[in-house]
Amino acid sequence: MSSDEQKTNQQWGGRFNEPTDAFVARFTASIDFDKRLYAQDIRGSQAHARMLNKVGVLSQEELTAILEGLDQIRDEIERGEIEWSVELEDIHMNIEARLTDRIGITGKKLHTGRSRNDQVATDIRLYLRDEIDFILSEVTRLQQGLLDVAEREADTIMPGFTHLQTAQPVTFGHHLMAWFEMLQRDFSRLSDCRKRLNQSPLGAAALAGTTYPIDRSYSAQLMDFDGPTANSLDSVSDRDFAIEFCAAASLVMTHLSRMSEELVLWTSAQFDFINLPDRFCTGSSIMPQKKNPDVPELVRGKSGRVNGHLISLLTLMKSQPLAYNKDNQEDKEPLFDTVDTLKGSLRAYADMIPAITSKADNMREAARRGFSTATDLADYLVRKGMPFRDAHEVVGKAVAFGIDQNLDLSDMSLDQLQQFSATIANDVFDVLTLEGSVNARNHIGGTAPDQVRSAVTTARSHLSQRSE
Ligand code: ARG
Repeated sequence: MSSDEQKTNQQWGGRFNEPTDAFVARFTASIDFDKRLYAQDIRGSQAHARMLNKVGVLSQEELTAILEGLDQIRDEIERGEIEWSVELEDIHMNIEARLTDRIGITGKKLHTGRSRNDQVATDIRLYLRDEIDFILSEVTRLQQGLLDVAEREADTIMPGFTHLQTAQPVTFGHHLMAWFEMLQRDFSRLSDCRKRLNQSPLGAAALAGTTYPIDRSYSAQLMDFDGPTANSLDSVSDRDFAIEFCAAASLVMTHLSRMSEELVLWTSAQFDFINLPDRFCTGSSIMPQKKNPDVPELVRGKSGRVNGHLISLLTLMKSQPLAYNKDNQEDKEPLFDTVDTLKGSLRAYADMIPAITSKADNMREAARRGFSTATDLADYLVRKGMPFRDAHEVVGKAVAFGIDQNLDLSDMSLDQLQQFSATIANDVFDVLTLEGSVNARNHIGGTAPDQVRSAVTTARSHLSQRSE
C-alpha cells in the first residue's frame, strides 16, 4: 500500500502508519448529528475566508472561489445531494473535503489559521443564537395566548388552592397571569443567555491562537457577534453558554410541566374545570369513554429528559482540563435534543392555550363549597375591632358548624352566624360572596378582576416593546 492509501483521513492522516480501525472511525465520528450545523459551519468559514483575504493571507481570486464553492455546497446539502462520510468524521471536514473536490487546491487553504476547535465552538454559538431567537418568539406567542384567555376569564371565579386544598377564591384570569409571569422570567433568562453567548471564539485556533496576522474583530463582526472572546484557551473549551441554555430550558419545561399538571387535574371528571378541545387529546384503545389530555401529559413527561440533558452537560464539563478535549463532542446531542424538545413543547402549548375554555359553573361551585371565604369573614371581624387571632378562632368554629350542618358560610343565616360573634351584622353577606371576596383583593398583584385586566394591559405593552 502507498502511504496515501493507508490514510483513513486525508485531513490529518499524515503521521499515521495504519488506517483507523473501522469501528473506531464510526465510534469517534460526529457527522451523524453535527451535520445539523452545516449552515453555521459555512457561514463561519465564509467569515474566516473574508478575514484571511482582508489581512492578505488569501488572494481575491482565492476568496471568490472559496465563497462560491461554499455557497454551492450549501445548495447541494439543501437539495439532499451530499453524501456524508464517516471517514471524514464531522461536518467541518466533510465540508472542507467537498470544497477541495469542487475548487481544487485553493480549498485546502481555507483551514489556514484556524482549528476545528475554534470552528466548532463558533458553529454551536451561531446555531444556539438562531434557536434562541426562534424559542423567544414561541415564548412570546404562548404568552400572547395566555393574555387573550386571561382577559376573557378575568371575571371567572375558581377556587385557589394551597396544599391542593381549597384556600380562597381567585379569578381564572389571575391564575393564567401567574403562568404568564413564569414565562416572563423564562424570556428574560433566555435573552440573558443569548447576550452572553454572542461572542466569537474564531481565531483561538487549536488553543493558543495563531501566527497569522488575523483580525478577530472583523470575523466577529461578519458573523454579527458583539466581538471576539478574550482568551484563546477559554474560547475553545468553554461550553457555559450551552449549560446556561439548558438550565433556562429546564426552567421553561418545569413551568410547562406545572401547567400541564393543572390542566390534567382540571380536565379530570373530579375537577371538570375546563374544556380541552379534542384535537389536543387522544382516546383509549380499550375504554370507549376516554378522552385523555395527552399533550399536557407528554410535555410534563418531556421535562424529565431536558433536566437530564442539563445534568449531562454539567457532568461532561466538570473535570475537563483546559483546553479542548474530545469529550466536548458529547455536548451536541443533549443540546440538540433540548432545543427540539423545548421547541416542540412550546409549539404545542402556544397552539393549545388559546383553545382552552372554562366551565365557569363548575369552578364557581367548587369555590363555593370549600369555605373559601373564611379568611374574608376573619378580616371582617378584624375591621369590626377584633384581634386577628381571635377572629381566626371564631371563624374556625363557624366552619366546624358548617361542616356539621352541611352549610357553607354564605348559606348560614345572620342568627346562625351571630352565635359565633355578636359583632356580625347584615353587611357580612357582602364579604361572604365570592364576588365580594375577589373584588376586595384589589391591589397590585391581587386577584380582583380589575387588577387582572390592568395586569393584562401592562403585559400587552411589554410584549409589544419586544418586537421593536
Ligand atoms: N467533531 C468535533 C467536536 O464536535 C470537532 C472538533 C474536533 N477537534 C479535534 N481536535 N479532534 O467537538
